[in-house]
Amino acid sequence: MTVAPQRPAAPGAVGTAHTRVEGRDKVTGAARYGGDIPFDGLAHGVLVLSTAARGRILSLGTGPVLGMPGVLTVLHHGNASRLTTDYVGMLGVPPDPTAAVFQHDRVPHAGWPVALVVAETPEQARAAADALTVTYDVEPHDVALSADRPDAYPAEGHMPGTTEKGDLEAELAASAHVLDEEYTTPEEHHAMMEPHVATARWDGGRLDLVDSNQGITWVADELARMFSLDPSAVRVRSEHVGGGFGSKGVRAPQVAAAMAAAALGRPVRVALTRRQMFSVTGYRSPTVQRVRLGAGPDGRLRALEHVSLNQTSTVYEFVEPGAGVARTMYDATAHRTENRVVRLDVPSPTWMRAPGEAPGSFALECALDELAEKCGVDPIELRLRNEPESGPVSGLPFAGRNLAACFREGARRFGWDARDPRPGVRRDGRWLLGTGTAAASFPAGTLPSTAAVTAEADGTFTVRISASDIGTGARTALTLIAADALRVPAERVRVHLGDSDFGPSGIAAGSMGTRSWGWAVAAAAEDLCERLVPGGTVPPEGITVRSDTTQAIAALAAKERHSWGAQFAEVAVDVTTGEVRVRRMLGVFAAGRIVNPLTARNQLVGGLTWGISMALHEEAVRDPASGGLYGADLAGYHVATHADVPAIEVDWVDDHDPEDPVGIKGIGEVGIVGAAAAVANAVWHATGVRHRSLPIRPDRVL
Ligand code: MOS
Repeated sequence: MTVAPQRPAAPGAVGTAHTRVEGRDKVTGAARYGGDIPFDGLAHGVLVLSTAARGRILSLGTGPVLGMPGVLTVLHHGNASRLTTDYVGMLGVPPDPTAAVFQHDRVPHAGWPVALVVAETPEQARAAADALTVTYDVEPHDVALSADRPDAYPAEGHMPGTTEKGDLEAELAASAHVLDEEYTTPEEHHAMMEPHVATARWDGGRLDLVDSNQGITWVADELARMFSLDPSAVRVRSEHVGGGFGSKGVRAPQVAAAMAAAALGRPVRVALTRRQMFSVTGYRSPTVQRVRLGAGPDGRLRALEHVSLNQTSTVYEFVEPGAGVARTMYDATAHRTENRVVRLDVPSPTWMRAPGEAPGSFALECALDELAEKCGVDPIELRLRNEPESGPVSGLPFAGRNLAACFREGARRFGWDARDPRPGVRRDGRWLLGTGTAAASFPAGTLPSTAAVTAEADGTFTVRISASDIGTGARTALTLIAADALRVPAERVRVHLGDSDFGPSGIAAGSMGTRSWGWAVAAAAEDLCERLVPGGTVPPEGITVRSDTTQAIAALAAKERHSWGAQFAEVAVDVTTGEVRVRRMLGVFAAGRIVNPLTARNQLVGGLTWGISMALHEEAVRDPASGGLYGADLAGYHVATHADVPAIEVDWVDDHDPEDPVGIKGIGEVGIVGAAAAVANAVWHATGVRHRSLPIRPDRVL
């Protein structure tokens, strides 16, 4: 068969709308998720979580449980294999001990994994897990986050805790307008559709694991380190993923399944229940943020301080970097940001939906709105007057900062110019109406990846990359990127992903997935194109070319590289019931080249939807008495549902990162940033009342 690469006369696949290549499989049930893949001789493990909020395990009543029907074993700190945990993984951080299960008898929080009961069937395992009695030496616990905790400290680690320049107090004193307010956001949970699940099998000395993850290489790397295996002795597969939102790294299920499979010499699956996810898979820390702004009469910032306090567990320091967004968004003569953290007897928080930027932008973008009111300047104009020339903290040039273009286009589409700035003056029957806006940004990062592209003898092409498509449409985006690089129609390209045997790649997180993988796919495909001789023959085994972007990414110029957005919301507020309804939202983004407008729109609409959810619904309430959560399920933990989501429009302005082979920046998370602030600012405009604590519940509106 001959292959004659031809430059397409028509525009390429990138930039045109394509439905998901796996869409039919998903809607017909043919797509197999982590818990669907059959294994011969499969046993089932169910985690037992601590009911104590702090203390030590005194005893586990394993005897009676081992006599229950179908029960095969009970793993716990007294019999589990020892893991290696003193390492720094590929993301530059040590492992969260919550995943390294059963290594000691200490209980650091309610809902800590204390045992795994393994049985022939899931039902037998669940019954036995429910029957397992655990006694504890209980110690007093402390789960109360507050702004004045004396044991809070500035975060260190891989992100600087504190940045400062200039004399803050002097600039505040010299400012015509000063704002000093506290903003709070509650504990929030990922609440993705598919719970965590892992199935492990040992084949000789090789660990074969099927799970649902946001980073094939990441999970494989962590498991290799924990179990002291050569990286080649671990295979991780994750073919379809029903959402992650930051929680699907290495977690207790993968580790417990691997331990149990080794102990029993047969495959073991560990699936979490929805309730278990609320304490073993991370969450977004609540934040208490203080923003101080000082501006001249024209609204130009002289002073900006953003301090964000978050909580973490006693076993792991995770910092929700709420103050980080101020380092990108606005400059001031005096500029100070600080991320603080306090260790409580709570589960470890983790990355969740624009970590840092989502809660940080709520505080900062509401503060800007309040400052605009004080200055008598339109909120968009205030932001435009404060557009920095370069990174406010880094001093680095921006790799394209098209925020103003987003605001201009957004204002036009939303009808912003007709807005009466006075609050509380528009009515629609029992509803008070208001509109609000906010800015958004999210870093555009890249992680090294490898990919392989094969020219098949039948004229088609196969891409292999260990990416995870967590529902974003990554598989489809990579198909389009490969098609353009190969100069063939998308129908001739098939993408296989979700298998660590395809070589290392970046994670499906940090809005970096498509950019990181697309770079590797484009590089391999371009290289393959060069090697295919027009009119030449392809052998039966095909011709395969591999890429590795490590060096190209290391050579990227140091710049402030971000995606940008302008968010708009219109709300209706019934002040007699406290009900807030979002009527419409618009987000306009500058997020690099858009690979697939259909799935990109989907991702961004999802981001705005989560913004509504954050503004009005989401709140996990911790019970000080038990140390656990009230209503740890999707009945008690409210997320925006279809009835809460009105007309949402998203669009983008032309944007292109010239340093990315495809021009991509990233759209994963920028959609949620600023969205909650836009809603809160609209609620103020409707009612004249500022809401500085999320969610804006009816009882807070009344
Ligand atoms: Mo996202 S919180 O980086 O999965």
